[in-house]
Amino acid sequence: MPLSTAHIATDHPARYVKQLISHLGHEVTAELTGAGRATITFPHGTCSLTSSPRELVLIAAAADLDALAGVQDAVTRHLQPLGTQEELRIGWREPIAGDALEIVAPAVDDYLLAHCTPAGQVLTELADTTREATGRAAGMQVSADEGALLEMLVRLSGARTAIEIGVFTGYSALCIARALPAGGRLLACDVSSEWTDIARPFWERAGVADRIDLKIGPALETLRALPGEPSFDFAFIDADKVNYPAYYDEIVPRLNPGGLLVLDNVFLGGRVLDPAFQGDDHQAMRRLNETVAGDERLDCVMLPVRDGVTLARKR
Ligand SMILES: C[S@@+](CC[C@H](N)C(=O)[O-])C[C@H]1O[C@@H](n2cnc3c(N)ncnc32)[C@H](O)[C@@H]1O
Repeated sequence: MPLSTAHIATDHPARYVKQLISHLGHEVTAELTGAGRATITFPHGTCSLTSSPRELVLIAAAADLDALAGVQDAVTRHLQPLGTQEELRIGWREPIAGDALEIVAPAVDDYLLAHCTPAGQVLTELADTTREATGRAAGMQVSADEGALLEMLVRLSGARTAIEIGVFTGYSALCIARALPAGGRLLACDVSSEWTDIARPFWERAGVADRIDLKIGPALETLRALPGEPSFDFAFIDADKVNYPAYYDEIVPRLNPGGLLVLDNVFLGGRVLDPAFQGDDHQAMRRLNETVAGDERLDCVMLPVRDGVTLARKR
């Protein structure tokens, strides 16, 4: 499904969002989804609107290029006349396919991997063993640069208590655990003993096994069984996407003030941008991305690292 974006320079983006929604509300489904944010559903496609301090960002999507042109035209025709005090310049970019987004060019990818602190022997061997033992599933493992990012974040935040949802063969858990100070603890949650059994000898070799509590079982049950008050300084969610909103709801109240939550795969391969994808996981991730951006309990930043990583720090 093709999609196209437009950035409109203005000091009043939220005002235009509100005006456009009330203007179009009678003709199409138009819904305010948060402060200065909205989604309009036309018969032939959708357009989402987001306000940032000095611009209004539009993302239009439709089944084919003709339908996309129809969405662009409808939005432009209704939005342009709202600029009575200023001229709104609506320049749509060339359409791209939502599920074929290349977030980082391969050459940049090679370059950045060559310029991170090397992962070291144990992590490199864990990645090799994971490939041999799990085949295609090995693609679930965090990459070396994302592992380095997690390690850096744990060290920078000074976290002592951490939780991970989605362990697999233990790569990200190892990165988190080895960045904790002496006496630090990581509660690592997964449903699979088969995969997490691969982790244990590598955690031992890295000298972090004694600071990781592995809990096998549905992570939602594990979370709900924990005390409700804040106790974690760091949390990483990288498990079944459909449960991300539920994990988020359970983890945020359990984060200490200043605690950091890291969410992996927030782009879902670009599919969150593309309304052609309406699977439960796509809908859950879209809903969560909206929730996090508007959650007054946290400050957040979404990074184009791998499949999208959101950092959310509890106020
Ligand atoms: C993307 S992998 C995690 C990768 C891991 N972070 C790493 O660096 O290798 C997702 C993991 O989530 C686990 N998982 C899926 N559904 C789960 C659930 N309901 N509760 C707990 N873990 C779950 C899977 O068993 C799998 O190991």
